[in-house]
Amino acid sequence: MRVVTVLYTDIGELVTCDPARGDGNPLGVMSDAAVVVDEGLVVWTGPARHAPAADHRVACHGQAVIPGFVDSHAHLVFVGHRAEEFAARADGRAYAAGGIRSTVEATRAATDAELAATVEGLAGEMLAAGITTFECKSGYGLTVPDERRALEIASRATPETTYLGAHVVPTEYQGRRDAYIDLVRGPMLDACAPHARWIDVFCEQGAFDVDESRAVLEAGRAQGLRPRLHAGQLGVGGGVGLAVEIGAASVDHATFLTDDDVDALASGSTVATLLPGVEFSTRTPWADGRRLLDAGATVALATDCNPGSSYTSSMAFCLALAVRHQGLTPAEALHAATVGGATALDRHDVGVIAPGHRADLVRLDAPTYVHLVYRPGVPLVREVVRRGVRYEV
Ligand code: NIG
Ligand code: FE
Repeated sequence: MRVVTVLYTDIGELVTCDPARGDGNPLGVMSDAAVVVDEGLVVWTGPARHAPAADHRVACHGQAVIPGFVDSHAHLVFVGHRAEEFAARADGRAYAAGGIRSTVEATRAATDAELAATVEGLAGEMLAAGITTFECKSGYGLTVPDERRALEIASRATPETTYLGAHVVPTEYQGRRDAYIDLVRGPMLDACAPHARWIDVFCEQGAFDVDESRAVLEAGRAQGLRPRLHAGQLGVGGGVGLAVEIGAASVDHATFLTDDDVDALASGSTVATLLPGVEFSTRTPWADGRRLLDAGATVALATDCNPGSSYTSSMAFCLALAVRHQGLTPAEALHAATVGGATALDRHDVGVIAPGHRADLVRLDAPTYVHLVYRPGVPLVREVVRRGVRYEV
């Protein structure tokens, strides 16, 4: 059966993120615009008055339409929560990498169905929040079978799966970290590689150092996985330099950066992914997004949805934080959460509303995308179109 063409028209403000459209700025904003979708792809954008005929017509009531958000960093395969740890931070307790181990314990004890239910629930929240592409990491299993099943479950929800066996050294390997690293880059990698596209390491004091991280990422690359890193979350270290040196697609957190780190990001191809939900939740200093953009680095914005350091699926909340605390303009924040996320995942089919790209659109109950930041905490997403399929929110 042929899928009919759909004309989305009467769009008050269309944010294409296609610099070839609109007034030539990076958001490619057009007013009084229309979009035609066919078989899950955008086939036409332009002024509504010039729109071609289509089988169906959807009126957008003069509201704003933006590309679906691309969330390039999330940890969704777990059970339980760490609300007490969050509340204790309001009382002065610091965030530490070791908190990950309590989620590991709960996750190992969970059934596959319980883990799948968490992933489905959070993926549903993300869709309702306008996220139409998301990445999902393992990292709360930390045994061969637990990491493999995490990736099998994640891969039912997204093709952007990331093997994060090197999240922390688990309790049973305390004092034997070399043995754990051998496991992560050996049998655990063998079991996980068929289910993952990416390999990630938490390169940070309290987790893995630069040499350990390099060894794990190189082993993953030898099995066809592409590297990305967590680095610069809790302090400066060599993780950002390592990410650029090995050509990682993205280095995430990027809160603590030396001038050399910023120079390296500006001259290399590695995206700097900001995770302001982490800084909100863990009360750590805000990453300086302005410094990165002014230096010429490519910046992405992601939720880092996870139960320890950032339990949010709201990209709009992250946009608001990035604008208020990380020095981005509303336009830069939206660009980072769409094109930036797509670049961090090396995806060329999403993040942009343009002919040939996936039909991933979000209609807001607002005349302009700026309201995403200007009206923080207000649920403005009214309709989400993913691969041409419409979801009313
Ligand atoms: O990206 N930093 C490492 N991993 C996660 C936190 C995971 C947790 O605390 O459970 C992050 O912030
Ligand atoms: Fe993370």
